[in-house]
Amino acid sequence: MKIGLLGGGQVGQALFKVLYSEKETILNILREPLEIKKVLVKDLNKKREIPKDLLTTNPEEIILDQEIQIIVELMGGIEPAYSYIKKALEEKKVVVTANKEVIALYGEELYKIARKKGVDILFEASVGGGIPIIKTIKEAMVVDKVKEIWAILNGTTNYILTKMEEEIKDFDESLKKAQELGYAEPDPTKDISGLDTAYKLSILSSFAYHTTITPQCIYREGIENITLRDLLYAKDLGYKIKLLAISKENNGEIETRVHPTMIPINSPLASIRGVYNAILLKTEKRGDILLYGEGAGPYPTSMALLSDILESAYTLLYSLPRYYSFAYLYPSKIKNWENFFTRYYIRIWVKDQPGVLAQIAKILGENSISISSVIQKETSEKEEKAEIVILTHKTNENSMQKAISEIKKLPILENWGSLIRIEG
Ligand code: NAP
Ligand code: HSE
Repeated sequence: MKIGLLGGGQVGQALFKVLYSEKETILNILREPLEIKKVLVKDLNKKREIPKDLLTTNPEEIILDQEIQIIVELMGGIEPAYSYIKKALEEKKVVVTANKEVIALYGEELYKIARKKGVDILFEASVGGGIPIIKTIKEAMVVDKVKEIWAILNGTTNYILTKMEEEIKDFDESLKKAQELGYAEPDPTKDISGLDTAYKLSILSSFAYHTTITPQCIYREGIENITLRDLLYAKDLGYKIKLLAISKENNGEIETRVHPTMIPINSPLASIRGVYNAILLKTEKRGDILLYGEGAGPYPTSMALLSDILESAYTLLYSLPRYYSFAYLYPSKIKNWENFFTRYYIRIWVKDQPGVLAQIAKILGENSISISSVIQKETSEKEEKAEIVILTHKTNENSMQKAISEIKKLPILENWGSLIRIEG
């Protein structure tokens, strides 16, 4: 069976090698070899581990080729990837993709085209790198109900936070290393800003709750303002800071958010280090299910692609019926961010003088926010300012945002530090 690749970059080249190294296994499963016929690239002269005679810069040589039945999209970004995928489905090709952006933004439309044309679009590699999370949610959770998703879905940011905390490396150096290892997006601000995580959470939530959760529905903050000081304070307090993807379904209402989160050091997600991702599903009938594995990197991603390619090749070769799962069925009701209810960590620099704590406590109290602890480390008299860390009990986001804007207006405030949500 012939396949075509749209993209021959980090993942495309790894997939090329995996298809070669696994050719005996593939032959045993399919009883027919899988062969890459063409690979679309932008620059024919770039050095890469794919033979030059397979390369093309003309997408039609792949999309319109009658011999090619499966198209694997590995270009990334929205355009032209989205248009090529759509065209391929309209040409009745099966599409396999690692592109979370396109699936998060256009999944519903593409899924409907695929069904109408009697083909399929598979995207295991788009979430969690090598972790088989899409199959788990799409197939294994059909009768059971997912009630909550708690996850680390971005390898780059988890790698950065781990390096900063464990090796006291700075942010830029850690990001550079993540880029060298092939974890980061071509534009790494998509990782850092939490956008990549929001794309992935939107895909998981749409399939878990059988609805349409667009990335725009998701409240999002990235890790750009997380400092080493916060990571070390968190450690002292018995927490880790992770960029968490959280979604919960309650009586048809869905709460979805992505933000740095302090979680107790002994909670399952706190132990996820480096490029690893983990997804904790809270289900109605099976209780908690935790999946863990390498969340980025060309090789784990290639294994996820290979499982989708094999599934689609087998279905095509033996004319088996397709299984379409239950996403995008019902309209979604999204909980307003103002009603989120959680604990908070606040770090601020204030003038080191009498009555300062009382002023802050007054604002928090007036907004019905209850303090659970306060830390002020001793500073030298010369510094004339003090760093205060406050942990609160659970409160709603609206009250907290109001309190913060009042604290920011206090003349005793020297510098705003951070606000981090605490869960668990
Ligand atoms: P990459 O190294 O930047 O590769 C992109 C490939 O697409 C390159 O071969 C590029 O050609 C080609 N391309 C891009 N735009 C094109 C255009 N307009 N026309 C023709 N060819 C074009 O990206 P990657 O890291 O392999 O990622 C590919 C996809 O996998 C993305 O959707 C990414 O989010 C996803 N993904 C990546 C990882 C990971 O760990 N890297 C993990 C999971 C999912 P040239 O080589 O000539 O520039
Ligand atoms: N840039 C992504 C990450 C790649 O770091 O998780 C895997 O989707």
